[in-house]
This record gives sequence, C-alpha cells and structure tokens, in this order.
Amino acid sequence: MSLWDDLKQHQASQRLSIAEMTGDEARNSGLRVRLDDMLLDCSKTTMDAAALALLTDIAKQAGVETRRDAMLAGEKINETEDRAVLHTALRYQGSNPILVNGEDVMPGVRDTLSRMRAFSDALRSGAIAAHDGKPFTDVVNIGIGGSDLGPAMAVRALSPYCDGPRAHFVANVDGSDIADTLARLDPARTLVIVASKTFTTIETMTNAATARNWLEAGLGAGLGAHLAALSSAVDKAGAFGISAERVFGFEDWVGGRYSIWGPIGLNLMIAIGPERFDAFLQGGYEMDQHFRTAPLSQNMPVLLALMGIWHANACGHPTRAVLPYDERLGRLPAYLQQLDMESNGKRVALDGSTLPRSSGPIVWGEPGTNGQHAFYQLIHQGTHIIPCEFLVAANGQESDLDHQHKLLLANCLAQSEALMLGRPQADTPHRVFPGNRPSSTLIYDRLDPRTLGRIIALYEHRVFVEGVIWGLNSFDQWGVELGKELATAMLPLIEGADAGKKDNSTRSLLAHLDRLR
Ligand code: F6P
Repeated sequence: MSLWDDLKQHQASQRLSIAEMTGDEARNSGLRVRLDDMLLDCSKTTMDAAALALLTDIAKQAGVETRRDAMLAGEKINETEDRAVLHTALRYQGSNPILVNGEDVMPGVRDTLSRMRAFSDALRSGAIAAHDGKPFTDVVNIGIGGSDLGPAMAVRALSPYCDGPRAHFVANVDGSDIADTLARLDPARTLVIVASKTFTTIETMTNAATARNWLEAGLGAGLGAHLAALSSAVDKAGAFGISAERVFGFEDWVGGRYSIWGPIGLNLMIAIGPERFDAFLQGGYEMDQHFRTAPLSQNMPVLLALMGIWHANACGHPTRAVLPYDERLGRLPAYLQQLDMESNGKRVALDGSTLPRSSGPIVWGEPGTNGQHAFYQLIHQGTHIIPCEFLVAANGQESDLDHQHKLLLANCLAQSEALMLGRPQADTPHRVFPGNRPSSTLIYDRLDPRTLGRIIALYEHRVFVEGVIWGLNSFDQWGVELGKELATAMLPLIEGADAGKKDNSTRSLLAHLDRLR
C-alpha cells in the first residue's frame, strides 16, 4: 500500500470531530507554527498527529527538501521551459553568490534594484519630472496577470504607507478599463509604465498604444519623459519608443506571477518609497530563510501545503476559500488565484504522464466581513465543504478606530468557531448548522510592508510544496495559450470575415453579434 492509500484510509477511519480533536493540546500544537509575530494555526481541521505524520512522509518521499534546495540554488527546476526559478534571488539579503549556468545573478539583481531605487526617489522628489518640468502626480501601470495583480494588490494592501504619486492599474483589454482610468487623469502630470515580461501580450500592447496616443494628444511634445517599461524584452520596449535607461529588465528565471519582487514592483516602490519596499523584500527573505531552514514539522509554508493536500486529496474538497479579515487585502484572493491556479492547475506530471490524483484546487474568496453577508450561508449550511483560510491582523492601522478592529477580530474568530462547532440542535432543520467544517487562521501583528512580504512568500512556497507533492511543474502555464491563439484568429470574424468553418454554436454567436453591431 502506498502512503497515499494509507492517508485516505486514515481519513476514512477518523471518528472524532474537529471540536473533539482540539481537546488534545499536543495535537493542536503540532498544527501551529509561529514566525515571530506571525502565527499559522491549523488546529481547526481534521488533521491529527497520524495524518500529519503521513503527510510529512509523502512530502519527504516527493523530495520537497531536495527540490526546495535545488530551486533556491538556481537549478533549472522549470524543466518544461528549461529555466531556473529564482524569484527568491530578487529578495535575497545574504552575501552568497546565486549561480545560474555558472554565473552569479546577484550583481545584476542589485544593479536593477538600485536603478529602481534611483528612479523612484527621483520621481517622488520631482527630480524626474514631466515634459514641462513639473512633478508627476500619477503613475499608471499597464500590465496584466503577474504584471498587474501583484503590484495592484500590494499598493492597496499598503495604502497607509503610500506617500508618493498616486498609483493606478490598467489590465483588461476591455476599453472601459483604460477609458475610466485616463478620464480621471491629466496627461501632463501622468507617467505611464508598460509592464510586460514578454512585451507581446495583446491586452497590454493594445492598452499601451491607447495610452501613448492619449499622451501624444495631450502633450504635443516630450512623450518620452512620460513613458517607462518593465520587461525582459528591452529591444521590444525600445521599438515602442521607450529609451533603454527607462526600461527595467528581468531574467527568464522570474515567472510572471512571482515577479512583484523586482521591476514589476516598481509602481509599488514609487508609491511607498524605496525604504519601505526594502522592508517588503526583507519580509519575503525572512520567509525564505524560514522555509529553507525550519524542519518540515515546524515549517509554515510546509504546514499550509500539507493542509492543502489533506483537504484536496484525503478529504476530497475541490475548493478553498481565502478570507482576509483585512479590507486592504481585498485583492489577495485574485492574486492567489493566479499564483495558485496558474501554477498548480495542471493535469500532467513533470514527465508528461497523467497525474494519478487531483491537483490544484479552485481558489476563491473575499474579505470578511463582507463575505459573511454573501456566500457564508453556503459555507455554513451548504452541501459542499469549503476549507476556509482566515487572515487577520492583531492591530489595525486606524488607532482611533480600534473599537472597529475589535469587532473585526471578533467576527473572524467567531466564524471559525461557528464552522467548527456548528449548532446541531435547533427547532427546525433550517436552523441547524452541522459544524465540523475546517478552517485555518493566520494572525500577524499589523499589515505593514514586511508582513505583506512574508504573507506573499508564504503562499508562494505553499504553492511550490504542493506542486512538488503532486509531481507537476508549478512554473509553466501552457494552459493560457490556446485561448490566446483562438482570439487572434477570431478577430477577423468579429470584423466581418466569413465564419463558415466555425462550429455551429460559435457561428450563431457571431451572427447575433453581427446583427447587433
Ligand atoms: O496569462 C499568461 C501570462 O503569461 C501570465 O503568466 C503573465 O503573468 C501574464 O500573461 C502577463 O505576461 P507579460 O508580463 O509577458 O505581459
């Protein structure tokens, strides 16, 4: 029998409820990991000591430690694309070399970072100014996926620390996104940053051209002063009209969804300033150190991953909800959807064989308490079991509103308690809460740049560990290609070309559009 069979058998043989299990404090403490102020508590799940032992054996058998060390050492663990995976180098604070193909990548990383710092400082002070010599008041980041979600999420998360020019983000090819954003802005006071690793993504290139036209029309001259780029493709950015000293490049060993730590984070750095951005990097690095050195049993990303494996593969729960009791983490679920689902939404193993079990779950969520008044009905009384991942800061940023923060905390803790205990007795079945529904809680002191860095790195490593255990490559994303190709081929049909070769269903949609346009 394999360890996986043992795991399933153990899950099937469990008789105690979560509430009963929490009576065993030795078991609970094995399901808690602390890193300074940050606590991950997974005791409100059906994991017990035996489950944890089996899961840890599965992780070891999958080679999590070896693979982790290979990633951090710059080995080409992204085998389908023949690339190293080194977003951790972007936040590395140590002095050792990190080698890719025998070459230390750290001098390049530090050089780009100091160029970003100089640019941000100069922009914030007004030394880098608009074409008329006056300071920029607004910066628009045009990018999509990993070139948007990270900085957009982080700027919102760290709004109390934003004291630079206002940051805006445009992602969707839907013209309403850029139209609504530019309508609020003055071209004379606006810097446009085109963020695209490849500088070929159709949404970004289309929006970038629209923004360039808007700048040209509004400025008359001096367009170059209003543009910058974040890209691995310096030549393509040059062809777009952005001079080389305004292009911040990164290497192919930084995946889009892992790229907030480098140039893609420029709009965040401009908004919060280089020193706070350093604290953000420091937080990520501290989580890396913890991930690299803590034994598996006391390793926060590993525990989070093992809980994910338990829920997905032993319990068979196909989704997980991320529920930040932190309004400023409102975009975290969307950010994690890309990080998690683009990384681990795979059905084949590294060697191309079909995976023997389900892999990445469906990730979704909303900030509490808003979600409580929307979908928590299903979480508490629905027919699906949704493992819930709560996040909350012990202290809010608004010291004069601490009474509201206490209410937020009370709601967060009450929800996990309600999920666990339920209310088995009631006057009618409609009022019964079955309980025994799993959740985890991540508590941190305050949502500052360092803590945000830790949270993002925690989830990155969790996704990594789960991917290794499932035996897939978390670092490619071939699944996004087909739709892109078909959209390119579909455009002429939208413009009126003959749709004769299309399937009946698509032809009928095209015909209806044709009637309406
Ligand atoms: O959606 C696919 C994807 O390649 C993501 O992985 C990436 O973050 C996004 O598109 C944007 O890519 P780029 O930065 O090259 O424009």
